Amino acid sequence: MTVGGPRFISFEGIDGSGKTTQVRALAARLRATGAEVVETREPGGAEGAEMIRRLLVEGDPSRWSPETEILLFTAARRDHLERTIAPALARGAVVLTDRFANSTRVYQGVGRADLRASVDALHSLAIGVEPDLTLVLDIDPRVGLARGLARGGTEDRFEQFGADFQIRLRAGFLALAREFPRRVRVVDASGEAETVAAAIAAEIGL
Ligand code: TYD
Repeated sequence: MTVGGPRFISFEGIDGSGKTTQVRALAARLRATGAEVVETREPGGAEGAEMIRRLLVEGDPSRWSPETEILLFTAARRDHLERTIAPALARGAVVLTDRFANSTRVYQGVGRADLRASVDALHSLAIGVEPDLTLVLDIDPRVGLARGLARGGTEDRFEQFGADFQIRLRAGFLALAREFPRRVRVVDASGEAETVAAAIAAEIGL
């Protein structure tokens, strides 16, 4: 990585956009340059935050209101920031996180309800930092939903909101990239994993 390159990078996108695979691929490339890399995820990424994760991603879609979700996601993020992200950045590591605050801006701020102002207010109160760079993995919602549901498991509470929800989310992520063109970049994630990985590496100058 070029000296002075981004050290705190979040991956964002709709469900099934391939973030997890791409975090792993970029981590491997960065490690090959000698960097210490911390791979992490939200909701979760620290012991307490992983406990909150289970409350959020499992169970009935109506389990929480969007307002309550904002509080829970932000609580989990605060724990993640304190215990994992901030210490890693302080010792000079590169942090790659599968989702961060832009997920709340989009899922709770525009996807589930029109609550962006509440998300931003709570973010500035409790979190106050943004990644140096956010990579939005952009994919057709039909493809993402099929991938997500094919994975099975019990963590499908958000997938159950359906196709229209995923369409609103995609539009929300693309709008964020237009709002913050310097720190939020869109990557076409419809191709093979290797093609997407190469596009991401180019984006950060590797
Ligand atoms: P994730 O584990 O990234 O799921 P996936 O691999 O399917 O993308 O995230 C779990 C779910 O939580 C996902 O559907 C998105 C949702 N989410 C929010 O609604 N708001 C948030 O702030 C975050 C971080 C995630």
